[in-house]
Amino acid sequence: MVDRSLLPAALSILLLSLHRASFALPLSTNSRWIVDDQTGNRVKLACVNWASHLDAAVAEGLDKQPLDNISRLISTMGFNCVRFTWPLFLFTDDSYSNLTVRSSFESLNLIDSVATLQFHNPHLIDLPLTDAFKAVVSSLAANSIFVILDNHISKPGWCCSNSDGNGFFNDQYFDPGTWISGLARVASMFNDTPQVVGMSLRNELRGPKQNQQQWFQYMQKGAEAVHSANPQVLVILSGLSFDTDLSFVRKSGGGTSVKLSFPNKLVFELHWYGFSDGQAWVNGNPNQVCGSVVSSFMRRGGFLLTGANGNGGGSEAGEGGEEYYPLFLSEFGVDQRGVNVNDNRYLNCILGVMAEMDMDWALWTLQGSYYLREGKIGLDETYGLLNQNWSAPRNGSLLARISVLQSPFQGPGLSQESSYQLIFHPLTGLCITRQSTLLEPLKLGPCTDSGAAWTYTTDHTLQMKESPVCVAAIGQGKAVKLGNFCSDANSRWNPISASNLHLASNSSDDTLIYCMDVDSNQNVVTNPCKCLEGDKKCDPASQWFKIVSTTRDLLRVTTDSRVITNSHEPS
Ligand SMILES: *[C@@H]1O[C@H](CO)[C@@H](O)[C@H](O)[C@H]1NC(C)=O
Ligand SMILES: *[C@@H]1O[C@H](CO)[C@@H](O)[C@H](O)[C@H]1NC(C)=O
Ligand SMILES: *[C@@H]1O[C@H](CO)[C@@H](O)[C@H](O)[C@H]1NC(C)=O
Ligand SMILES: *[C@@H]1O[C@H](CO)[C@@H](O)[C@H](O)[C@H]1NC(C)=O
Repeated sequence: MVDRSLLPAALSILLLSLHRASFALPLSTNSRWIVDDQTGNRVKLACVNWASHLDAAVAEGLDKQPLDNISRLISTMGFNCVRFTWPLFLFTDDSYSNLTVRSSFESLNLIDSVATLQFHNPHLIDLPLTDAFKAVVSSLAANSIFVILDNHISKPGWCCSNSDGNGFFNDQYFDPGTWISGLARVASMFNDTPQVVGMSLRNELRGPKQNQQQWFQYMQKGAEAVHSANPQVLVILSGLSFDTDLSFVRKSGGGTSVKLSFPNKLVFELHWYGFSDGQAWVNGNPNQVCGSVVSSFMRRGGFLLTGANGNGGGSEAGEGGEEYYPLFLSEFGVDQRGVNVNDNRYLNCILGVMAEMDMDWALWTLQGSYYLREGKIGLDETYGLLNQNWSAPRNGSLLARISVLQSPFQGPGLSQESSYQLIFHPLTGLCITRQSTLLEPLKLGPCTDSGAAWTYTTDHTLQMKESPVCVAAIGQGKAVKLGNFCSDANSRWNPISASNLHLASNSSDDTLIYCMDVDSNQNVVTNPCKCLEGDKKCDPASQWFKIVSTTRDLLRVTTDSRVITNSHEPS
């Protein structure tokens, strides 16, 4: 078997792109994984949300850029998928479906949008709204981007509140019968578009009427209706309380109480924002908040991936026959100006969870602006991946941090020949990497570098893969060292604090505790551990690392393998 880590980088990249191109559709599920039906290989959904459910019921941004340019940009940014939102009434109510893009804008007095959309997308301006919707799906499909059609709301407009009449079955705008016929219509409309791989049945169920009994009753009916109309698509079920709670779908003894007549298409989705926990992140110590919010996430939905005891996953069935399901984190995101401390702290925590659990996900959100949102024309979206002109990323640093999550770490079809750990640093999106000689300091670098592969051993050493060389703490503010001292006290690294994100080691004389940290040159050093508990003011994120197990191929070869095999303790 070829050791891919030794191939020239260009060839590895070629192999990777061949691997990517080999996906066949449709998709189905195998335990917690979404897989390609034909090969059984994992397909990781790395999506971005694109809104088409607001007042105008037109995909946002078509007044800023040509449609195909936006689709290409999504692909260039590394996403393989779009969660494309739609309002129910677009497909069930003539007063919307009879409108063209032009007449929809005119009815909202969006005169500038008529002109700018006509300039950038002249072929769309006089299409009926439903045909404009289909044109966006076609453009995404033509750019090999998967589409998940998300029924976001009934009546076009900004979503969501407890009292907007769109929250739960039998609310003012949410007639279950209309919803089911709309789902069936949309499902069959895209029967011949294999890139439409899934349907999110209803976004963020909520409000005073919400209850579990009707959740089961209608979600099961909706799923059956979608499957009858289009047996190819994954059916994706959103939880209660704004899609933050799926705890009630867990059957005692494991698995789920959701009953469907068809196998291998059921996926659950959950949303998780900084503000899901109010201002908890600024009002508490980040280690303690991260610890408690993650435990809560596991109870509310994470159990679907790992089982109730948190250590299953990946296999067909866990202890006691527990079944696993894919959990699609279909909305997460932050204010990209970096000014929201609550969001910043949350992001450092959630990126670690997303890497460790290797979830499928969709960032909120693509749109840099809206035609009209909550009465405001041309509103800037600070959570938007694109700038207000839709010409480029709003903040490249966010994209850099999430790019490591865009390809799978684990799952069926990944080369099982190499299994190793990454030491992921959520604050930067980079990983601890060794350089081409053992004497050079460890640095943060791309997680795809061969130097990023480590073995985290059962006695808690961080060992170079297949080589008895370990990372040791030397002292405060000093670079960590690599050498043949795997049995020393200062080579044991334990995850500590309520977040488990600090990697702590004793000093060589066993009297002090140091935490792994990063200096301003991205050298990996040790420092006193930062605010492990209590302190609310301090942000420990420079010291947050997540050990992530993976079998993914390494892309870039930075290390000369001869250096590894001939290595001895550096001075
Ligand atoms: C859209 O893409 C085409 C083809 O690459 C390019 O010629 C054109 O300038 C782009 N339009 C905008 C507004 O960037
Ligand atoms: C929508 O168009 C159809 C077909 O032209 C027409 O019969 C119907 O009355 C229209 N409905 C509305 C609400 O305009
Ligand atoms: C981009 O995000 C980083 C990290 O949050 C922040 O420090 C920076 O100011 C942001 N840049 C812009 C242009 O908003
Ligand atoms: C958006 O486009 C306008 C007009 O071309 C330009 O003045 C502005 O600088 C652009 N803004 C961004 C963020 O690119």
